[in-house]
Amino acid sequence: MKTRNSFIVINILCAIALGACSTATPTVSPAESTSPAPQTATDNSGLSSNSQDTSTDTSSLACNDGNKSAVLTPEETEGPYFTANSPERDVLFEDGMNGIKLVLTGHVYNENCQPVANALLDFWQADANGVYDNNGYTLRGHQYTDANGYYELTTVIPGIYPGRTEHIHVKVQAPNGKLITSQLFFPGVSLNDSDGIFNENLLIVLQETSDGMQGQFNFVIPTQ
Ligand SMILES: [Fe+2]
Repeated sequence: MKTRNSFIVINILCAIALGACSTATPTVSPAESTSPAPQTATDNSGLSSNSQDTSTDTSSLACNDGNKSAVLTPEETEGPYFTANSPERDVLFEDGMNGIKLVLTGHVYNENCQPVANALLDFWQADANGVYDNNGYTLRGHQYTDANGYYELTTVIPGIYPGRTEHIHVKVQAPNGKLITSQLFFPGVSLNDSDGIFNENLLIVLQETSDGMQGQFNFVIPTQ
């Protein structure tokens, strides 16, 4: 894992001399950078073995227990790395891609916990090394919920980059509804506590599988 170790070394140097290194990690604009930035080495595979905190407790999922209402999914900053016109696809994972495979599933509901069919979900994220593809569409894609408001995304656990904890960006929109921009986070990541954008109401319910990780998150969005 020479490449991975090299990256960790580079990341340590980046953490020490913040912003001085632009080849291994993207420059973070003030729009998405939070402080304090990480000052310690971190396993960029995503969830380090000693901080992994998975749970099958789905009680935090919106509209999960027959609830008749739910609060709207919190909105978050778009950040500097959104690219319009992503391809329509629900599999962002590619053969040979570095990182831990993640299958994220869930539903999109309205505030009355009714499923929203044909809702747009546009995902984008950093790769396992914390780097965005700002020239192409790697780890970017949009899809639409089915008749039950269900969606499924196959991707990788994103890496961290200076100033941010692990996160997946997403835009969600009901047909003819307001476009919501947000971010999803991962449990058990130590950098969550120092990330000013982190919101525990946007945590994915996560568990290990024989083929990586399985995540769940339900969105609640306005339909007008
Ligand atoms: Fe980001």
